[in-house]
Amino acid sequence: MNLKGSKIIVTGGSSGVGKSTARMLVEHGAEVLITGRNSSRLEKAANAIGCAWIEADVASADAVEKTFQWVKDNWNNRLDVLINNAGLGEFAPVEDTPMESYHRVFSVNFFGPVMMVKKALPLMQRRGSGSIVNLASTSSMKGFPNGSAYAASKFALRGFTQSLVEEVRNQNIRVFQVNPSEVSTAFGNPEREERKETENKLGPDQIAQTIVSILQLPEKAFIPELSVWATNSKF
Ligand SMILES: NC(=O)c1ccc[n+]([C@@H]2O[C@H](COP(=O)([O-])OP(=O)(O)OC[C@H]3O[C@@H](n4cnc5c(N)ncnc54)[C@H](OP(=O)(O)O)[C@@H]3O)[C@@H](O)[C@H]2O)c1
Repeated sequence: MNLKGSKIIVTGGSSGVGKSTARMLVEHGAEVLITGRNSSRLEKAANAIGCAWIEADVASADAVEKTFQWVKDNWNNRLDVLINNAGLGEFAPVEDTPMESYHRVFSVNFFGPVMMVKKALPLMQRRGSGSIVNLASTSSMKGFPNGSAYAASKFALRGFTQSLVEEVRNQNIRVFQVNPSEVSTAFGNPEREERKETENKLGPDQIAQTIVSILQLPEKAFIPELSVWATNSKF
């Protein structure tokens, strides 16, 4: 697709992968709306990128409603691409993970994208085109110690995505799942400070470049799922 002039939502666009992706999309001429939970971080990112922003927690049905009211008011209900990027992790052994933690992680990583997709689909179906990118993780395919809440939420997102692909593919709607391995961002940092990119770990720009590239495929083509690994990861 040609990104120039296309209308794109990036959830969780105030830092990390979402911020890099929004920036790269704007550089390609797209009109982008970023969302997040903190208005000062959003405003700062949006000013640097040259995009719109709205404070909206993807785990809140009211905030999802507000996001799509913005699309109606500002884009006349046109939405070319939805990028479900907002996500968080809480990591502990199962016996030390309270039920609230499972609910919190699932609310953002699973129910958030589901609510966003349910609002985006009718707009795309009416126009007979659209693309949805779900940011999952390599943890959507393999669990790891202390990752039961996070990995389970991404496994759930993967199941949802695979079913969605089958439902909307013949409606000319593309659904992509991108699985980053570890990326140096503010992910998992309660202070929300971004980690410095290092030689051997992925940075957010490599995931952003992946997302931009797959969207740029001609609309008759899509990649249901792809993983991005660091080439020379030394742990
Ligand atoms: N970093 C990694 O190693 C890694 C690996 C694989 C997959 N991923 C996935 O990649 C995606 C992006 O992660 P990242 O590394 O870029 O993390 P990040 O730097 O922590 O950024 C997450 C973004 O999402 C926003 N956000 C968090 N909760 C939200 C909510 N409930 N509603 C709306 N926005 C919310 C954050 O802003 P506020 O905090 O201000 O709301 C921030 O803008 C996530 O889905 C993550 O699971 C990351």
